[in-house]
Amino acid sequence: MSKAVTYGEVIPRIDALVRGETDPVALMATIACELYHAFEYFDWVGFYRNIGDDTLKIGPYQGVHGCLTIPFSRGVCGQCALTRTPQIAPDVSRLDYHIACSSTTQSEIVVPVFSAGDDLVAVLDIDSDQLDMFDTEDELQLQEIVSVFRMID
Ligand code: SME
Repeated sequence: MSKAVTYGEVIPRIDALVRGETDPVALMATIACELYHAFEYFDWVGFYRNIGDDTLKIGPYQGVHGCLTIPFSRGVCGQCALTRTPQIAPDVSRLDYHIACSSTTQSEIVVPVFSAGDDLVAVLDIDSDQLDMFDTEDELQLQEIVSVFRMID
């Protein structure tokens, strides 16, 4: 099944599940679960929450355990939080700042999550056990999915 078709199925499902929900943990848990089960090559899907002091803390996720704390100065997640822009790593072994939570991760995408006030709430991190699995289509679709957090102050 093509990526576009899978997003076309999972986005309405997420919309229906979270309609009217404003609790950030409920939103993160539902989005992580739906994405993880929708794509066979998504090996880890989860959120790292911005807890202030340039620090990210693990939030709801699916997959093997993730590291608990990531400073903005480290990792693909930290780079996303620092720059407030999506990050795509086609081959994580080529990035010296990548944090290897799982030895199976080969490629990764991280998108920022913003509130109504344009504050950075969290980052959405997706890892694949295959190389070069993410592109601008994922970037756009995932940004669309996390735009639900724009409803929250
Ligand atoms: N690889 C991430 C760390 C989080 S785990 O992959 C779940 C990073 O480099 O920021």
